[in-house]
Amino acid sequence: MRISESLRETALLCERYRVAGLSVGLVPTMGALHAGHLALLEEAREECERVVVSHFVNPTQFGRGEDLDAYPRSRAADIEACRRAGADLAYFAADDEIYPRGFQTWVTVESLTRPLCGATRPTHFRGVATVVTQLLHIVRPHKAYFGQKDYQQFRVIERLATDLHLGVDIRVVETVREPDGLAMSSRNAYLTKAERDVAPRIRRALLASRETILAGERRVDKILAVLNNTLRPGTELKIDYAEVRNAVTLEEFPGAKVVRDEGVLIAVAVNVGKARLIDNVVIGK
Ligand code: PAJ
Repeated sequence: MRISESLRETALLCERYRVAGLSVGLVPTMGALHAGHLALLEEAREECERVVVSHFVNPTQFGRGEDLDAYPRSRAADIEACRRAGADLAYFAADDEIYPRGFQTWVTVESLTRPLCGATRPTHFRGVATVVTQLLHIVRPHKAYFGQKDYQQFRVIERLATDLHLGVDIRVVETVREPDGLAMSSRNAYLTKAERDVAPRIRRALLASRETILAGERRVDKILAVLNNTLRPGTELKIDYAEVRNAVTLEEFPGAKVVRDEGVLIAVAVNVGKARLIDNVVIGK
């Protein structure tokens, strides 16, 4: 496995892969790799002849007062994990190369970024869309892999890849979970024992509300009642949002009645101690 810290070298290596006729898969990450990230890598390994994993804690997607400084960093373990999982290139991007002096060019995706996480993190998706666009330009992969846990992020990136004609196939990989259902996340490391004990309520609430829809309920207020009752917000768990939306457009359903045609997204973000945790379920078309 090659390790690169240079943008030029990364671009050159990837160019060589393509010229040799090899298919290239990109897995963008912020490091602190866990089994969720590795599932993306495995999927890429199965579908592509060369797999590139990028590591970059992207400052522009963190808001003021968010956890940029506290965000876990584990470079040596990440290199080992990538090697074991069969990556071909681990790219550790440098801040001053991604954001050269005088940087002022942003990628903004419009309505998809306004609700859900965008409502409380208004500059988050601008940071994500910009850095992912850059990574896609540097690596120019045939396929790029994203986790369903960050469902809105996946839809935003799919949109920008289409709108900017990037010619990359955006793939989504199912969420990897702890045995009790908690979605794996680098931010789970912030949880105390007591907080960790309440966190599986997120998954339980999502499954309970999915059951309600599968049993025929269409009224959004009834579905949200099940979601909220199972989440049991209180001192240890505070809801940022808990919503039911069209899974493609992320819009609310007209008349507050779900239509299953395009798929239904049930998405939550909660604050548990210092951690902001997100998760979702999608009921397919
Ligand atoms: P990060 O949080 O490191 O996640 C990298 C990728 O791993 C994302 O596509 C995310 O959805 C996926 N992922 C995280 N936890 C997962 C889980 N439990 N199961 C499956 N996939 C999971 O998301 C980012 O970084 C950044 O926003 C990034 C796209 C790298 C841009 O900076």
